Amino acid sequence: MDESTLMNTPRSAAAAPAADDPILSVRGLRKSFGSIEVLRGIDLDLTRGEVLAIIGPSGSGKSTLIRCLNMMEVPDSGELRLRGRPVARGFRSRNGSIGVGELRRHVGMVFQHFNLFPHKTVLENVIEGPVVVLKRPRAEAEAVAMDLLARVGLDAKRDAYPNHLSGGQKQRVAIARALAMQPDVLLLDEVTSALDPELVGEVLTVVRALAEEGMTMAIVTHEIAFAADVADRAVFIDRGVIAADGTPDAVLHNPEGERLRAFLARFHA
Ligand SMILES: Nc1ncnc2c1ncn2[C@@H]1O[C@H](COP(=O)(O)OP(=O)(O)OP(=O)(O)O)[C@@H](O)[C@H]1O
Ligand SMILES: [Mg+2]
Repeated sequence: MDESTLMNTPRSAAAAPAADDPILSVRGLRKSFGSIEVLRGIDLDLTRGEVLAIIGPSGSGKSTLIRCLNMMEVPDSGELRLRGRPVARGFRSRNGSIGVGELRRHVGMVFQHFNLFPHKTVLENVIEGPVVVLKRPRAEAEAVAMDLLARVGLDAKRDAYPNHLSGGQKQRVAIARALAMQPDVLLLDEVTSALDPELVGEVLTVVRALAEEGMTMAIVTHEIAFAADVADRAVFIDRGVIAADGTPDAVLHNPEGERLRAFLARFHA
């Protein structure tokens, strides 16, 4: 696989995540929709190279949490920091704080429903951010995009339109598109949930390769076996709070607490 410039430092002894060096951290995060408080005080750190699995029941606040991590949802209160710099409400960075525009360049997101531009080809989708946002020359952006498309096994589809692709292929394009921005952190929200079962594996293979290359990721998933295998750490979100936080082995295989046990039992049915 091409070891180009796009990933974080590969996982190794020298690059092991340092607990005191969070890339992304939140403290006291709260978010309500109307009268419903969906996030009720979340504290979370994501360290360099860490793969964090986020699990929890439907409606527990998982998507809201990761959308807050790149300010697609604006928290009501609490603090978000990227590499120690507080994230400001406004778009622009100023006075040591980081604006939403810069935050989103460093924190990429992949969604359940791909969200590709339907009127653009695969290649155009992948170069859009680098050309429009990062102002990269088109030829350079295309070269990087073709590397990424090769990595996700879709270089032959460069000129295809999204509606001519399978769900698994669309999702792999969406991952390549997010990586084209060279993010420090990638957020994945149930990226396999909309896929036919036979297409899940090809997307998980791509995510696993990213994990092995040391990409820092927060992954909301119902694929418990995958989470156990790929994640360094797992958190269980329940009714807007982190109800369990630990190694995948502790959280997923030796769960404490009735609600976590009941949640996991559904996957063994
Ligand atoms: N934009 C919104 N406006 C109003 N309510 C919302 C909005 N987004 C989320 N909610 C509500 O917030 C709660 C948490 O939603 P969220 O999408 O974060 O849950 P989730 O854990 O991701 O669930 P799922 O596993 O089904 O994806 C739900 O009750 C949901 O209806
Ligand atoms: Mg969700």
